[in-house]
Amino acid sequence: MDVSKSPAKIAGMFDAIAGNYDLLNHLLSAGIDRRWRKQAVRSLRLTGTERVLDLCTGTGDLAIAAGTASPGAARVLGVDFAGAMLRIGLDKLRSARLTERIALVRGDATQIPLPDTSVDAVTIGFGIRNVEDTEAACREIHRVLTAGGRLAILEFSVPTFPIVRTAYAFYFNRVLPGIGRLISRHNAAYGYLPASVGAFATPQEFVTLLQKVGFVSVQARPLTFGIVYLYVAQRSR
Ligand SMILES: C[S@@+](CC[C@H](N)C(=O)[O-])C[C@H]1O[C@@H](n2cnc3c(N)ncnc32)[C@H](O)[C@@H]1O
Repeated sequence: MDVSKSPAKIAGMFDAIAGNYDLLNHLLSAGIDRRWRKQAVRSLRLTGTERVLDLCTGTGDLAIAAGTASPGAARVLGVDFAGAMLRIGLDKLRSARLTERIALVRGDATQIPLPDTSVDAVTIGFGIRNVEDTEAACREIHRVLTAGGRLAILEFSVPTFPIVRTAYAFYFNRVLPGIGRLISRHNAAYGYLPASVGAFATPQEFVTLLQKVGFVSVQARPLTFGIVYLYVAQRSR
């Protein structure tokens, strides 16, 4: 399986599956994805005044979770380079009357279209694995965060506990690509998902990368038997 991540390939793939993305997300995770996003937002310890940047926002679910939490963010900006994903996100914001608090713009996580120290918190949900230059994105996040600003990243991982690992491998490699293909009618995307998870940094490697670009208080918290990790970190004061 090709796990190359050129921006054109990744944006094209997400544009192609955008129409079914939310349905498949909730279906394939049995709805647990909502709980993971809530946990990520809770880790930011928002007070109602913060400006939050949600990178790789896709159809905006994590941006919406940050904007509607109580207390939540004062303003959220979602950034993604897949236009079709953003259009679906915008429809959701309009129907939920959230466009005053949450905005979506097209942009690349490795060249964030914001000035230095302009946001209080950054989130990424299941996006960092897809970014071609992970380190460049982490450096950009560090640049746009204010001193003491918080980061919360959700990403899939390969569980290490043997029984969970076997069940996970069966589900991720055999069940999920088939259902994904059937519903999205996209051959490669749901085969790319397990392959890209396997090729991504281990939790320890990713923690080391966040520390290398300057983050402090970096933690990798396993969620749901380590299928997903919540990475939390802060820009030093
Ligand atoms: C799996 S989706 C996640 C969407 C959403 N955050 C969620 O929690 O469901 C990954 C998203 O990352 C975006 N993406 C990947 N690399 C990116 C980059 N370098 N810059 C901006 N967006 C990127 C893709 O276009 C896609 O919409």
